[in-house]
Formats: sequence, structure tokens, C-alpha cells
Amino acid sequence: MSVKTESLTQTTLANTRGISLDDKEYIVVAKNGEIFVYLNRCPHLNTTLNDQHDQFLDQHKNFIRCARHNALFTIDQGLCIKGPCNGQKLQRVSGEIVGDQLLIES
Ligand code: FES
Repeated sequence: MSVKTESLTQTTLANTRGISLDDKEYIVVAKNGEIFVYLNRCPHLNTTLNDQHDQFLDQHKNFIRCARHNALFTIDQGLCIKGPCNGQKLQRVSGEIVGDQLLIES
């Protein structure tokens, strides 16, 4: 099922956003003109990755980062390349920007 979220265009999306929808939390990352949406759930502890609102990336903005363990996940695949869940993936969700709305599969 496709669900519209708050108004969110490519230009208003600066790096990352956290979105709550129904009872789920999502990570939205814009990189090189693409949008990547993941469930905000670490595969090893089933908890959210961030400790501050909209803060999901490492200092160089190259990876999604777990704030508790400094685990790093690739932005394009959600693959953990460093940390306690090494080799596991974040769950990707379909998302696209249509007009000024982000549509995600819920
Ligand atoms: S909660 Fe799993 S790497 Fe931090």
C-alpha cells in the first residue's frame, strides 16, 4: 500500500529525515539524486539507530550510522559493513517523491 507522507521534495530533503508513520519509524536518505527509505530498525537489536532527530549519517555523510554502536550501513543497500550486525541489512522500503509528496510503501 502506498502512503503519502508530509510534504517533502528532493530540495527540502537535506541528507536525512526521520519519519513516523502509523507505528513505524523510517529513515529517508537523499544521495546523488536518489531517495533511499529504510525501516529505522537495526537488524541485531531491533531498535532505532538514531539518538537525535533526523541524525542518521556518519560525520562524512557516507554511511548510515548507529548512534549507540557506531555501526556503519551503506546508504544504497543498507548493508552493515562495520559493527555488531556486520553483514546484515536494514529493511529497504519503496519510496519515491511525486510532486511535493514522499510516497512510501507501508
Ligand atoms: S543497535 Fe544494532 S548496531 Fe547499534
